[in-house]
Amino acid sequence: MVSLIKQLTLHQLRIYQEVARCLSITRAAENLHLTQPTVSIQMKQLAEHIGLPLLEQVGKRLYLTEVGRELLGVCRQLFDDLAKFEMLVSDLQGVKTGQLHLGVITTAKYFIPRLLGAFCERYPGVDVVMKVTNRQRLLQRLESNEDDLYVLGEPPDHDNVWVERFMVNPLVVIAPPTHVLAGQSSIPVTRLAGEAFLMREQGSGTRRAMESYFREHGCSIRVRMELGSNEAIKQAVAGGLGLAVLSAHTLALEKNTDELAMLDVEGFPLLRHWHVMYPREKRLSVVARSFLDFLLQESAGLGGQYLAGLPLSHSRENTGNH
Ligand code: PGA
Repeated sequence: MVSLIKQLTLHQLRIYQEVARCLSITRAAENLHLTQPTVSIQMKQLAEHIGLPLLEQVGKRLYLTEVGRELLGVCRQLFDDLAKFEMLVSDLQGVKTGQLHLGVITTAKYFIPRLLGAFCERYPGVDVVMKVTNRQRLLQRLESNEDDLYVLGEPPDHDNVWVERFMVNPLVVIAPPTHVLAGQSSIPVTRLAGEAFLMREQGSGTRRAMESYFREHGCSIRVRMELGSNEAIKQAVAGGLGLAVLSAHTLALEKNTDELAMLDVEGFPLLRHWHVMYPREKRLSVVARSFLDFLLQESAGLGGQYLAGLPLSHSRENTGNH
């Protein structure tokens, strides 16, 4: 056993863990930014050191052998312990340096970068890589463990993730200021039936929430146009093409503009919430843990800002279950 331990390298074990996780040499190579032959050679050498096969190819699929499964458990434990040790060292040094990978859903880009500004000022040694994408792609990124933390409206419906709800996401109805309903109070939602609406793309959390609310109230709206961007929707509303339901976050910069009017529709703002999550099995880096704490703490004070000035007397909680 001593000779085995002498021969194994951490590099090989790290590669093995990724191969065993993805059950694919190609995907592991991509995720680790290595070439496929490098991964294959390392896996071959590792199996030779151990003297037993770790992987088994049946048809096109790769499986772990019994010893392969055992080794995966060893790797997890080992890298967990090393990560804990790394955190301890960083804490003792009192420094927070390294990379932070964030996966963020489209509408969250209106507030996450602002929080990042303050975070990076506090921890100048942190490099941030932020990927803004739609829900479907974000869930794929979560599945393949591409980022440290993910921010989205609705958590996935399985419990393989650690999830925490934070800050309110109020959805409001906007219209051109010349619209006949602008300035009216307590507009019944059914009054919107037949109105032309500009919609976000399929799969958007905002769209799902508004559709389910209108459906629940038997209010059938007319979809005038589908636009894959909050910004394009605001411009189209200002241009008189129709009404829209958007997150109040997207309007923060236009608060005092006279190009858009917020309608006082019963049930609105619909109160959704943001969620931050990461795979349950993942051990967060010191930097990711620090950002998570920062996000939860700072956003607690920020939510109120987004609610200021909204007609809350008849707002509705939206759980995101449709
Ligand atoms: P979006 O919003 O998908 O409409 O950008 C996020 C959400 O509310 O889930």
